[in-house]
Amino acid sequence: MGKPATILASIALITITAGFGFAETFHNGHTGACEGCHGSSGADGSYASLLGADASSTCLRCHAAANPQDYQIATDPPPADGLPPKAMTPAGDFAYLKKNYTWTNGNGSRGQSPGERHGHNILAAGYGYVADSTLNVSPGGTYPAGQLSCISCHDPHGNYRLVDVYGTITTDHNPIGESGSYGAVPTADAAVGSYRLLAGKGYQPKGSTHVFANDPPIAVAPKEYNRSESTSDTRVAYGKGMSKWCANCHEALLGGSANHLHPADAELGPIAGMYNNYIKSGDMSGMQAGAYTSLVPFQTAEATDPQQLSMEVTSTAGPNPNDRVTCLTCHRAHASGWDSITRWNARGTFITVAGEYPGTDAGGNGRDGENSTGKLMAEYKAAMYNRDAAKFAVFQRQLCNKCHGKD
Ligand code: HEC
Ligand code: HEC
Ligand code: HEC
Ligand code: HEC
Ligand code: HEC
Ligand code: HEC
Repeated sequence: MGKPATILASIALITITAGFGFAETFHNGHTGACEGCHGSSGADGSYASLLGADASSTCLRCHAAANPQDYQIATDPPPADGLPPKAMTPAGDFAYLKKNYTWTNGNGSRGQSPGERHGHNILAAGYGYVADSTLNVSPGGTYPAGQLSCISCHDPHGNYRLVDVYGTITTDHNPIGESGSYGAVPTADAAVGSYRLLAGKGYQPKGSTHVFANDPPIAVAPKEYNRSESTSDTRVAYGKGMSKWCANCHEALLGGSANHLHPADAELGPIAGMYNNYIKSGDMSGMQAGAYTSLVPFQTAEATDPQQLSMEVTSTAGPNPNDRVTCLTCHRAHASGWDSITRWNARGTFITVAGEYPGTDAGGNGRDGENSTGKLMAEYKAAMYNRDAAKFAVFQRQLCNKCHGKD
């Protein structure tokens, strides 16, 4: 029995070493070591092959884990029934795509919140992620669901870069010095990568006929961004271009449309005052200095200077009238616990009932299907990034009220 054990041990050792070798710096804002994705010197010399079954499966070799940390954005294997996905990043944990929730309504009918409604259904054959079965193309656009992968949105070679503080994005000009996600400022001879290696104008991933019309947003995230928000919020300062970037695939939704209730990229105007005063249902005694919540983030005006955005990252202040409502005000970019990838449950009436989160194991209205969406209270709390229910009103209504104050 000694031999297999030795082999297993050395395989484990290789895996761990590889993990440590890449830790903290792989892409560094641009093209990572080719062999990290293509195998040693591109195996066939042409870089046509990938280490994973497909593009997303190649990314998930490093970006998925049983206990996802830092840059890992998918719990793998997916948690069993009754247990929540574990990553708590701004974009969210893709494992929600594998969580199917069902319940029985008061009138005996069945309710459901299927996994595929919880996020962007990336194709990753090596990890059991399959295309959306109901939405064939991006709503409000034409991007084929059958081609959606990590590299639909992120440029695997990280070529898009910010070359000045005025928001100029190019794919050449100066070399990239470091990641553009944490506030580094471009200099006269070094650019910084685009926020989160997001693709921009003219981008066409291999095999796709769809072409991006808009550049990546300018934004700054805190260095520690995969964390519970029980004690403080993880604040990403979104700058210019956030909503327009989503419109690369959802063109028609930008201005609000017949089949989507809300405009995006609009200035808050007087609504900023509402956001700042709103603390919770029935309590409008707040002040701008402490008004921010990452459940309802906004875009900082048309900011393009990473240094300015860096200051927002550590602030708890609410918006000014020239700040904007963005797609990410209500949605996460990858996945969430809720239908239509919303940041909170937009389906039910209540976010809390009698001071507690809803759940199939809760009392009163908290047990109702549309409120619990088939989750246990502990799962619900995890989908709220471990915030304490006591931060809300005893009977908290929809967070649309943070801006519209109708409760
Ligand atoms: C983070 C992962 C990653 C890294 C690092 C990476 N590539 Fe790629 N590369 C990809 C993916 C994914 C594709 C798309 C392949 C596909 O879908 O079949 C690709 C495609 C290519 C292609 C095909 C042309 C195209 O359509 O883009 C070439 C050539 C290539 N890579 C070269 C390189 C070289 C050279 C390096 C190192 C400087 C490199 N790659 C680093 C992931 C990576
Ligand atoms: C060999 C391991 C490895 C592979 C493969 C890999 N990544 Fe990463 N990725 C990392 C590490 C480590 C970090 C954090 C440090 C960094 O950004 O260099 C990271 C960070 C990132 C970030 C945040 C970067 C930033 O600057 O904000 C994005 C986005 C990302 N990866 C996307 C991808 C995509 C898309 C693929 C597949 C095409 C991929 N990664 C493949 C290891 C990997
Ligand atoms: C529909 C577009 C889209 C797809 C598909 C997508 N991403 Fe992202 N990703 C984003 C955006 C936008 C952000 C920035 C979110 C934010 O800051 O709120 C992001 C953020 C990230 C981050 C930083 C951590 C975080 O959660 O904010 C990593 C790492 C990452 N993506 C990797 C991946 C990998 C790996 C895949 C495929 C398994 C993938 N992404 C698929 C759009 C996408
Ligand atoms: C590369 C193209 C692409 C980009 C960029 C993109 N999406 Fe999508 N999106 C799609 C596709 C394709 C679908 C339909 C398939 C699916 O839901 O998996 C979709 C579906 C959605 C859905 C519906 C999910 C559901 O199942 O009900 C929401 C919400 C959404 N996107 C929001 C966003 C937001 C917010 C952004 C910007 C952060 C964004 N998208 C950027 C391609 C894209
Ligand atoms: C004020 C909140 C809010 C903003 C801002 C917002 N959405 Fe939505 N979105 C929702 C809600 C709530 C739903 C689910 C109910 C519905 O379909 O209207 C939804 C649904 C969707 C869907 C699914 C539609 C379908 O046919 O299944 C997509 C796609 C989407 N949003 C994309 C976007 C994009 C892209 C933006 C930015 C241009 C955006 N949303 C801005 C709240 C918002
Ligand atoms: C970050 C603040 C914010 C949040 C959160 C928010 N809204 Fe709005 N809402 C706005 C702004 C700003 C406008 C005005 C947009 C404009 O100038 O056309 C608006 C306009 C509207 C309108 C009028 C639409 C129109 O076409 O003029 C409706 C209805 C609405 N919101 C409903 C909602 C609902 C429902 C939610 C929750 C899903 C929500 N809002 C969340 C800021 C917000």
